[in-house]
Amino acid sequence: MNSRMQPVVRILGLLCVLLLLILLSSELRLRKSFPSTVASDDPRIPGGDSTHGRTLALAACASCHGADLAGREIADVAWLGRLYASNLTPGHGGIPKGQLASMVLRAIRDGVDADGHTLVLMPSVFLRRISDTDLADLIAYLAQIEPVDRDWPERRLGLFTRAVLGLGLADELLAAETVAASVAATPAPVPGASESYGGYLVDLGGCRVCHHSDLRGGRHLLAVPGEPEPPSLQPHALRHWSLKDFVSAMRAGQTPDGRRLNAEYMPWPFLGQLEDYQLEALWLYLRSDSAEPEVS
Ligand code: HEC
Ligand code: HEC
Repeated sequence: MNSRMQPVVRILGLLCVLLLLILLSSELRLRKSFPSTVASDDPRIPGGDSTHGRTLALAACASCHGADLAGREIADVAWLGRLYASNLTPGHGGIPKGQLASMVLRAIRDGVDADGHTLVLMPSVFLRRISDTDLADLIAYLAQIEPVDRDWPERRLGLFTRAVLGLGLADELLAAETVAASVAATPAPVPGASESYGGYLVDLGGCRVCHHSDLRGGRHLLAVPGEPEPPSLQPHALRHWSLKDFVSAMRAGQTPDGRRLNAEYMPWPFLGQLEDYQLEALWLYLRSDSAEPEVS
């Protein structure tokens, strides 16, 4: 071999080894088994109120799992991978009837699938705050939705996503790890038009998934091309808004300065189905000091 080529070959070889190590590390994290706090057979969930469960399912699950809850494509881009939110209906490719409660509990409270492996992207770290009553209502609703036959292909993570995971740059994607590494969820507050209940709905409504955990807004590392940038929801950003402006953004997708929010990326048609007191609670929270950046 040409002796001038040797250093180049050596550097390339080193880079390949490095990449392999990074990919191996992400593979190990995906394959790790987590003990679940939930029994594998259907745990007893007291009968809930499915009407309230529907509002919760729309606000908390539909942005990813779709309006019919039969799942949705989250990404199908070579470098990001192929990622789908699962079919939650009892149809083909969905959740078998007898396993609904245990799968939902494991997914929400522990971030794991039936085998104890981490789910990817499922925002369990926020959703696990759900109160036992709200969870019973949600399950009561899911237990009676129309079956939809929809099989999604296997999850496949692209090279970029794996590299980012291997380097520890998007740990929040790994639901089970994030849950295990975080402190116990703050207990759910009493429902009402209060700031604390608003904070609970911010967690359940996925605001922190898209607008970042401290609501500062901004692009995500793994954003799908073409996605609009979620703006800041911190008090200073919304200082010219009133409760009425906020309600019309959530119910009609209309901002006070006349912009129309893209429903494909900002799930206002689902969030807008929350009751008046729930939207007011969200607003009280967003306007409060609690919504200012967390110290990190
Ligand atoms: C930010 C998007 C997002 C939101 C919001 C979300 N999920 Fe998921 N969920 C996912 C993705 C993506 C998967 C598939 C994960 C995978 O393939 O590893 C998933 C998987 C699941 C699973 C399947 C678990 C299994 O064992 O296969 C259940 C059950 C589930 N979600 C329930 C819910 C419920 C109930 C809600 C609302 C309270 C919800 N999810 C909200 C993204 C989301
Ligand atoms: C799936 C991602 C996603 C979720 C979940 C989400 N948002 Fe958004 N939001 C966006 C995006 C993207 C935009 C910008 C949309 C546009 O410009 O068309 C946006 C815009 C907004 C705006 C308009 C702000 C402005 O200055 O124009 C408000 C208000 C808002 N979101 C509130 C919320 C609240 C409250 C929640 C939780 C209850 C929430 N969003 C959950 C993605 C999301």
